[in-house]
Amino acid sequence: MKYLFLTPALAALTTAAAVPLEARQSNMLGSMLGMAAKLMPAANGIVIEEKSSLKVAGIKRQLIRYGPFTIPGNKDGAAPPSPEAGHNHGGGDMPGMSMGGAAPAAPKAAGGGFGDTLSLLAGQKPMDPNGWSTTKRLATGLCKDCTVLSGKTTVVFENGTRADLSKGVYLHHVIAMDVTKPVKSYITGCPGIASSISPFLGGAVDEFRQWYTTPDGQLKAGFYIKNDEFIMQAELVNYHPEPQNVFLQMDIEWVPGKYGPDASQATLAATSCDSATQSFKPQPGTAGEIKSKVYPATADGKIIAARGHMHDGGTAVNMYINDKLVCASKATYGGAGSTLKVNGKEWQTITKMSECADPIAIKKGDNVLITASYDTKTHPLRESHGEAQEGMGIMTFVFVPSS
Ligand SMILES: *[C@@H]1O[C@H](CO)[C@@H](O)[C@H](O)[C@H]1NC(C)=O
Repeated sequence: MKYLFLTPALAALTTAAAVPLEARQSNMLGSMLGMAAKLMPAANGIVIEEKSSLKVAGIKRQLIRYGPFTIPGNKDGAAPPSPEAGHNHGGGDMPGMSMGGAAPAAPKAAGGGFGDTLSLLAGQKPMDPNGWSTTKRLATGLCKDCTVLSGKTTVVFENGTRADLSKGVYLHHVIAMDVTKPVKSYITGCPGIASSISPFLGGAVDEFRQWYTTPDGQLKAGFYIKNDEFIMQAELVNYHPEPQNVFLQMDIEWVPGKYGPDASQATLAATSCDSATQSFKPQPGTAGEIKSKVYPATADGKIIAARGHMHDGGTAVNMYINDKLVCASKATYGGAGSTLKVNGKEWQTITKMSECADPIAIKKGDNVLITASYDTKTHPLRESHGEAQEGMGIMTFVFVPSS
């Protein structure tokens, strides 16, 4: 991890975050981050009203655009990234951020970890040499005293069309996080991996909507925003020689006031607590499974929107509660734009991880176990500089406390 480009405040936080955090300390860190965020350049949102299809009283849907930002033209004339560029996976590596299923031909990522998250937050370390990244405090646009039921983040051109690889712009990720809301931990994961940032929305190559309720909106739950401070961070690669103007966009559905309990995102890894990066090394040409330690639940509630995140080689991430399988998030390989030719050999990447959207009941004292299965015979690990890449098996989900 490189802290070289961090501002001193963020560097201090990074170091502080390397030690196991008590919830109280984590909250304190959160408020420190809130203060640090105040120093970040602000962006105002342009709000476009849309129609929601959810049958929920008072529901609103808005597109909130920040920008325009000019991504410089690609002077190297670089070709779109090849698998050799490295880090390909279903989703991004922001700890605790649900990044969705797929990232065909992803540029090299920073490898996860809290320090990297912070250095990304600082917006000064694009993960790809040709990458352009930005971090903005969201001064206006988002609702206040409201509950967000679902949302997604994307990047669009000035005409509103999504900027994606087919348009010569590669979206590595765009994430929005709440830097003032205290992080609640309802399931005790590995120490030290706790983050003080409340993930809000994240998006990468595949378009997915983050749900804080069930997809019909009927489960009373959502991400409550009082007067919170948000920052948004994006990394893009422009493959055009000409500069491109883009907006970072949030598409959110929300209701005024409170709608059920405050739901929050969390992440658990299939690795035992000895891997700080939550990665593991499957042997090439084998199939198998790794298992986490047992993670105890500390509250009654429901788990929704559970989704695995893997690198190529992975086949599924599973969640067990008291030894009963409650969610199998399976990897889908291949499909449009994700089959690449490398040295004449066809290479398929993960395009999607299935989601367990239906509520899964959980009680205080229940034991949660995460497993990750892989098959590196059928789906070889990515190679980067002649070395097989690490496997990844984590599950992100939303916890809805009972009260
Ligand atoms: C919007 O702009 C982008 C980038 O200039 C272009 O590729 C796309 O075709 C445009 N879409 C429409 C509908 O005009």
